[in-house]
Amino acid sequence: MIKPHGSEKLNPLYVMDAGEREALAKEAQSLPSITVCSAAAANAVMLGSGYFNPLTGYMNLADSISAAEKMQTTSGLFFPVPIVNVVQDASAIQGAKRIALRDPNVDGNPIIAVQDVEAIEEATDEQMKAMTENVFRTTDMDHPGVAAFNSVGKTFISGPIKVLNFSYFETDFPETFRTAWQIREEMAKLGWEKVVAFQTRNPMHRAHEELCRMAYNALDADGILIHMLLGKLKKGDIPADVRDAAIRKMAELYFPPNTVLITGYGFDMLYAGPREAVLHALFRQNCGCTHLIVGRDHAGVGDYYGPFDAQTIFDEVPKGALEIQIFKADHTAWSKKLNKIIMMRDAPDHTKDDWVFLSGTKVRAMLSEGQSLPEEFSRPEVAKILMDYYQSEAAKQ
Ligand code: ADX
Repeated sequence: MIKPHGSEKLNPLYVMDAGEREALAKEAQSLPSITVCSAAAANAVMLGSGYFNPLTGYMNLADSISAAEKMQTTSGLFFPVPIVNVVQDASAIQGAKRIALRDPNVDGNPIIAVQDVEAIEEATDEQMKAMTENVFRTTDMDHPGVAAFNSVGKTFISGPIKVLNFSYFETDFPETFRTAWQIREEMAKLGWEKVVAFQTRNPMHRAHEELCRMAYNALDADGILIHMLLGKLKKGDIPADVRDAAIRKMAELYFPPNTVLITGYGFDMLYAGPREAVLHALFRQNCGCTHLIVGRDHAGVGDYYGPFDAQTIFDEVPKGALEIQIFKADHTAWSKKLNKIIMMRDAPDHTKDDWVFLSGTKVRAMLSEGQSLPEEFSRPEVAKILMDYYQSEAAKQ
């Protein structure tokens, strides 16, 4: 199986041994503690899961600045975004060497991880601005990722962590949430070597389904890992449980058994377009995938990124920094001329009217009004799940 990023063996920061975990949880109760932001808790889940291998904890300010600027830490480790624990006010833990991190997303704020504090540093406004610009290519606070990064404080608490649990992800999504090592184990059991990952934060319509099939066939892969984001999204995005149900239905009806694994990871969406695509590739390598599909406007939002910026950024990834390869997909849609879903680059003779296009806004409006979606766009069984959701939302208003 493909090697993890940055090390021979995956080194998840979750405390695997139940006895050790219990002892650490007990010790943690007597440590000074701080409730972290949602992004930092999600980072703990990702570090605990092995997805952010080979990091051993949260980056310090110099590494964060360097990762944002050059996609590598000061020691030269390739990493495309800062992985940080940023707080507004660190006075509760001032002087402490070891602290407990409390989870903001679970009732009662239980301890999610224990951190050895290496440094507590305050970023300047200029440093925050530069990191924001480098990661998001904008400082516009209307960008949901920019707003999230710039509203949680400027105090960076860095140092290694040990993770005690996987927050709400393991309880809310027991069928779907998987760690990187669990996915490696599952794929090894299936005998999969060449695996193509599909990142998603949306339900899968026919174009998405076909993208997976096209990549699977073109690469002659052993399997497809559908790997969905289970963390926080911007308003208007479809909640993970509804999306999960829609995706499971699609795979059950339209893919042969044992070709698709449906899984999810616990991370808040950054909407950082190109940089997030590189992070996506890195953590799919860590869970054992050899390829990642990157299509149109991958991890984008609004019109902050060009439709294929998330593909061209891979030209800037130093050779050998990542082993996983990218399956670059063009805009994909139903061709009325050919009566099937294809990539636009494969039909240079088509004009705009030869395609079935539906904007997200139009899809939402149709489903909320109880109108079914065209079969060229969405499988009826998928559309039905989404319609039930939109109608229940409409009924609440
Ligand atoms: S994302 O934020 O997780 O990237 P989404 O779930 O919409 O959003 O997309 C999942 C993947 O499918 C991304 O790689 C995206 O580029 C790709 N994609 C979505 N729709 C299309 C499309 N019509 N044509 C080509 N690629 C697409």
